[in-house]
Amino acid sequence: MGKQLTPIQSLNGTIKVPGDKSISHRAVMFGSIAEGKTTINGFLTGEDCLSTISCFKKLGVNIEQDNEQVTVNGKGISGLKPPTEDLYVGNSGTTIRLMLGILANTPFTSVLTGDESIAKRPMNRVTQPLKQMGAEIEGNESGNKVPLQVKGGKTKGFHYHSPIASAQVKSAIILAGLKGDGTTSVTEPLKSRDHTERMLEAFGAKVECEGLTVSIHGGQELKGTHIEVPGDISSAAFFLVAGAIVPNSTITLQKVGLNPTRTGILDVLNQMGAEISYQNMNDEVSEPFGDLVIKTSSLKGTVIKGDLIPRLIDEIPIIALAATQAEGQTIIQDAQELRVKETDRIETVVNELKKMGADIEATEDGMIINGQTMLKGAPVQSHGDHRIGMMLSIASCIAEGETTLSNSEAIAVSYPTFYNQLERLSN
Ligand code: S3P
Repeated sequence: MGKQLTPIQSLNGTIKVPGDKSISHRAVMFGSIAEGKTTINGFLTGEDCLSTISCFKKLGVNIEQDNEQVTVNGKGISGLKPPTEDLYVGNSGTTIRLMLGILANTPFTSVLTGDESIAKRPMNRVTQPLKQMGAEIEGNESGNKVPLQVKGGKTKGFHYHSPIASAQVKSAIILAGLKGDGTTSVTEPLKSRDHTERMLEAFGAKVECEGLTVSIHGGQELKGTHIEVPGDISSAAFFLVAGAIVPNSTITLQKVGLNPTRTGILDVLNQMGAEISYQNMNDEVSEPFGDLVIKTSSLKGTVIKGDLIPRLIDEIPIIALAATQAEGQTIIQDAQELRVKETDRIETVVNELKKMGADIEATEDGMIINGQTMLKGAPVQSHGDHRIGMMLSIASCIAEGETTLSNSEAIAVSYPTFYNQLERLSN
């Protein structure tokens, strides 16, 4: 039995979306390898970030969590202890890939595993360069798939030209270089999110960023600090699109993170003609944030490609839904990375939206959507992918008739309060 979803007349009110997932993971990870106490406010209590806490507890770190407040009592990277059981990352690609970088510095063996989706995702994008830096990594398909066994020690400085714009790859290598000999640097083809660079600075490390290259000198110690986590723009994206496509709506989203490496969704919605305004902007902090107000808008089709893609990669499922409600054609290209996310998001978005009557076709590296179509309620599935589940739930708000969503529980990976907030806005 799936979740029954019915159309919604309008969405109005103010909500604060949960904490940023990328920043919450990093705050726990860096706090765990820093010397002294780190306090985190606004932590995302989604399943992915709880997996990160659980893994570091298994590595002997004392972590106290009270809802969105977390205290991490770090003893430095050399304070991590050999785990007595496997480190289970659940559904979280960020947990496993960044932890591989950290564990490249620990002189003991750890085993990393995850759920069915993680078992299908490629890990050689991080294990290959980490092996070149001196980490010993073994696993299925020569270290491409979980379970992965990693034994670190001293890594040596390394320059890596990454073939993909991926913050997980960049971060894993930079974290491996933190304790190693010499300088480690990563050059990426396009700029990916820079939360690691910003947060390492907050923990007292020196990181150099020049163009598309990030470098770190080995032998640095992190010092515990306080991290304020802004709202996750990737979660806000569902309500930005909902506000734009549901009739008679005005939604205010408070304290949304506005790091320029993440705001591609705002550029695209503006390009499509959405009425978005900004309030209470704060850009004096390391991670800027502000309030966003969205109103029901007439949208038009657009082209999304090139360096915009890494700035909105997680938002493409909900952008595809917006495109079904836009006048004209929307083309998304250069987004082949979607094929190796929690699901193959080109296939899952296209197949599920087709069931609701959308005019949408998959291409090798994206999709082509013709709007505007009247969507119809249908039995659909999340395929265990949180962002597909949320996109289909927003689609059901404007569809004619009832939608039944199977495996809606997956949404708790990044947005445990999603349905509560949707209900609040619809009253
Ligand atoms: C993330 C980076 C992105 C993103 C993921 C979170 C991060 O993945 O899709 O949800 O926190 O570094 P890639 O680095 O593989 O692009």
